[in-house]
Amino acid sequence: MTTGGLPAFTPPPGYPRIKVVRSFDELAGTRFGDGVNALCWPRVLTGDFGEVVTRLGVGQGITPIDDARLAALALNDAGQMAREVLRHDLATLRAHELLPSLDCINGYLQEEETGPMRTDVQSFHVDSATVEADTYLCTYHGPASEGLRNDEALRRVAIPTTRAALLKEYGGADDAGFREFLNDHYYDLHYAALPQAEPFSFGVGHLWRIATEYPGSPVPPCIHRAPPTLPGQSPRLLLIS
Ligand SMILES: [Fe+2]
Repeated sequence: MTTGGLPAFTPPPGYPRIKVVRSFDELAGTRFGDGVNALCWPRVLTGDFGEVVTRLGVGQGITPIDDARLAALALNDAGQMAREVLRHDLATLRAHELLPSLDCINGYLQEEETGPMRTDVQSFHVDSATVEADTYLCTYHGPASEGLRNDEALRRVAIPTTRAALLKEYGGADDAGFREFLNDHYYDLHYAALPQAEPFSFGVGHLWRIATEYPGSPVPPCIHRAPPTLPGQSPRLLLIS
């Protein structure tokens, strides 16, 4: 399912927070540290993931794909190869006591913009947890997830106009209660790209493990987002755990 030799993924130049690994065991077994907050196992996958997406025939929004639905698809040879890759990845992650989910994403059903700032997955953000945890992800088809260097990002809650709008919504002082309010509403997990920022693509087929924000994490969390939805795009096929 993979080919060696060609560098399928090249990290942004001069950016030391991404480490490229060569196997699943190295991906799963490497502890975050020394500033590294993202691990990428580059892969060139064989199979027609587009056919899987076409046969799934999902409606708008996010559709979780369970094993039975995947198994029931009538696929040609290339589609069957793609299905085997999906099954293998799901089984590998489950064998590591993870709970991967496979989603087919045909646009995001945007919530009404009622609050003072965006908190959806298409806004740069970090994942958070109360205990040590990390996020695995792989885009098999469609536009890939995107990353933002930590040194090219600014917490949205630190932007004066945004903070003022949030304070207005909170209706109190900039105190511990306000910080709790920011946390409760996930406002403090979202980031703006600095003007000179160059977001990078996570690529298609590569399996990533990225650091989340949790108390005591030795590294800053990895900032990422789902790609913007453009008209006429194929649905995405995404594994996330
Ligand atoms: Fe996320």
